[in-house]
Amino acid sequence: MKLETDRDATEWVYAAKALAVVSAYMELGIFAKLAAGPVRVSELGLDARAALTTLPVLRHVGLVAGDADVVTLTPAGRRALEAGDLPTGRNLEALRDLSRMKDVLLHGGPVVGDDGKSKGTTGGTRADDPAATARFLDMLYASSESAAATTFAWLSPMLAARSRVLDLGGGHGRYLRVFADAGHHGTLFDLPHVVTYARGRHGDAIDYVEGDFHESPLGGPYDLALLSNIIHGEGDAEVERLLGRLAAALAPGGRVAIKDMFLDEQAAGPANAAFFGLTMLFMTRAGRSPSFAQLRGWLAAAGFGPPQVILLETHSLVVAQKA
Ligand SMILES: C[S@@+](CC[C@H](N)C(=O)[O-])C[C@H]1O[C@@H](n2cnc3c(N)ncnc32)[C@H](O)[C@@H]1O
Repeated sequence: MKLETDRDATEWVYAAKALAVVSAYMELGIFAKLAAGPVRVSELGLDARAALTTLPVLRHVGLVAGDADVVTLTPAGRRALEAGDLPTGRNLEALRDLSRMKDVLLHGGPVVGDDGKSKGTTGGTRADDPAATARFLDMLYASSESAAATTFAWLSPMLAARSRVLDLGGGHGRYLRVFADAGHHGTLFDLPHVVTYARGRHGDAIDYVEGDFHESPLGGPYDLALLSNIIHGEGDAEVERLLGRLAAALAPGGRVAIKDMFLDEQAAGPANAAFFGLTMLFMTRAGRSPSFAQLRGWLAAAGFGPPQVILLETHSLVVAQKA
């Protein structure tokens, strides 16, 4: 991604164009059609000149092969499609949002949509749109299997049998369910419309508390409070206050575990934290990717001991014990 030669900026533009083409083909169901076998270009259902102009891009990035008349998926294209790795139509909406970067730079986020309404969400969910909330939580649930198992593998040696575990902003509940299935007592805290969703998935395998984690009683005492993908959606002062409230809800010796993406000391990476910060700028009122240094300061101010930092595949897990 670094701008090192005069070709690199051109490559960025090419990548953005390729993203738009692949996302639109996905949205139109064309890759799904190609998964069944070769298709005549004239039967793709596309404008003829648009097809002849976009197919070279798809051939260039290695997703399709064929000739002027017939198009077919390459083995790499099929693998990416089957693994769910191809960008979907949601990226077209993201590109529309990104086209408003200048407004966001001048006036701040969240971004305003085509309808003139703010696109701000509470951690990706919206009380006024249960269908969009369910789509978002389904997507997170589907992509959390290995992260939930890894998180549990790191944290379970720190827990006695039948510990009380709070999943704050637990959403779809996949993380907490792993703890509950291992015999711990799980409590999922989230907004009422999300608890309704989580209850549908987990029934009475876990307990639920509905509320706003900035205002409502958090319950407890707990032995472990997990915050997975939570603090990046909040402002600095909110995180600091939330950690103080959590410390009060923990039993003596209890731990907080924060799984998130953190900027390095130079705030120059890693890429996932740097770029995900943009999503938070566009979709939340005060969110951004925090740095490890910020988190250390917030934890100390809330009365936690020095944190342990565990590097996971894409995220980090920061664990601190109530002093
Ligand atoms: C990005 S999702 C993370 C879900 C899950 N922890 C994970 O890692 O996949 C953020 C969750 O925090 C919840 N959330 C955001 N703001 C909240 C608030 N003020 N009070 C309670 N829950 C909140 C959202 O409803 C959502 O379920």
